[in-house]
Amino acid sequence: MSVAEERCTERSVYDAPFLRACRKEESPYTPVWLMRQAGRYQASYRAIRSKYTMLEMCQLPDEVTKVTLLPVEQFGVDSAILFSDITIPFIGMNIGFDIVPGVGPVIEHPVRNMSDVEKFEKFVSEERLPFITQSIQSLKRELKIPLIGFAGAPFTLAAYLIEGKPSRDFKKVREFFFVQPEAWDALMNALVDVTIDYLNMQAKAGADALQIFDSWVGALHPRTYEQYLLPYMKRLFQAVSQNGVPLIHFGTGTASLLPLMLEAGGDVIGVDWRTPLGKSWEELKYQPAIQGNLDPAVLFADRKLIALEADRVLEEAAGRPGHIFNLGHGVLPGTPEDNVKFLVDYVHEKSAR
Ligand code: CP3
Repeated sequence: MSVAEERCTERSVYDAPFLRACRKEESPYTPVWLMRQAGRYQASYRAIRSKYTMLEMCQLPDEVTKVTLLPVEQFGVDSAILFSDITIPFIGMNIGFDIVPGVGPVIEHPVRNMSDVEKFEKFVSEERLPFITQSIQSLKRELKIPLIGFAGAPFTLAAYLIEGKPSRDFKKVREFFFVQPEAWDALMNALVDVTIDYLNMQAKAGADALQIFDSWVGALHPRTYEQYLLPYMKRLFQAVSQNGVPLIHFGTGTASLLPLMLEAGGDVIGVDWRTPLGKSWEELKYQPAIQGNLDPAVLFADRKLIALEADRVLEEAAGRPGHIFNLGHGVLPGTPEDNVKFLVDYVHEKSAR
């Protein structure tokens, strides 16, 4: 039995369409899950969330379990994703921050130089983030489908730490690595160390796959990626792959970065809606599995158009084993819930083999 097989307590989870697709094996239909499948567009989510702040809720295993299960029960998606946020490891690193509704993560003291990097903790442990292990264990008792754990990639985390808040052009980060390469190296190494601990913790607790979100990496030129990111990304993927669970490597605006992302690592590469999925997969030489990439805005349209656009994505994948249907980025607030249900059912029916 492989490590990954042993990890799945039930054989049925190991053979679930989502995990089969991660391994590029045939499956009875194309599995589908959606980034941000639990979120404000759901009335049931808003009802639970109204009692807590986002940060409080992420630290309550019972609430995390309930919220994670909402889209599983409502839509019949093929995978659950732990309800949390990429900023949660900052709690373990003693970095002051908040998640501001309608804005996103805001850092109390943004990183300006080496002495700021030296201040924070360079590892996270179960003692510091006990709710992560507890939430995953609780979910594994409830779920019959695979559970995805996740973390932010070092660049995307650094983007928040240096900019201090969401940014359009990431000017301060881009200046940081060109002007202070030593501080950048220290920051990247710290974030890689923490992220390895954090993902290992999730795999050990029972996560069946792990997604690394490099949401803002599209801000970089490929040469810059190669020089200032690739070595750290390789170290991250190399270390976490020891767990034997599939790794999904996702970014947006990555049309020119795909070969470098592949070199960095990942059993599955996640692509956004800006490029045709077929072309991206070809560029990746069909080596990894692929995840994506319906434009999330399509879910605001009528069903005829949703079906047409979903067909387009399925046709791009051409029935090759190893396609995981997803949006090109997260479900947008305000998305009609019925349309999400329609999409999930439609992908299942249309791709049935
Ligand atoms: O996908 C899922 O269903 C799992 C949950 C999840 C959340 N955040 C919940 C969340 C995941 C995987 C994330 C990751 C995350 N967080 C990323 C990477 C994915 C991506 O979207 O690119 C990033 C960049 C963040 C940072 C962040 N946290 C942003 C930009 C926001 C939204 C701010 C806003 O109010 O619009 C958050 C908060 C957040 N994380 C919400 C959710 C459901 C909204 C919380 C709320 O107000 O209820």
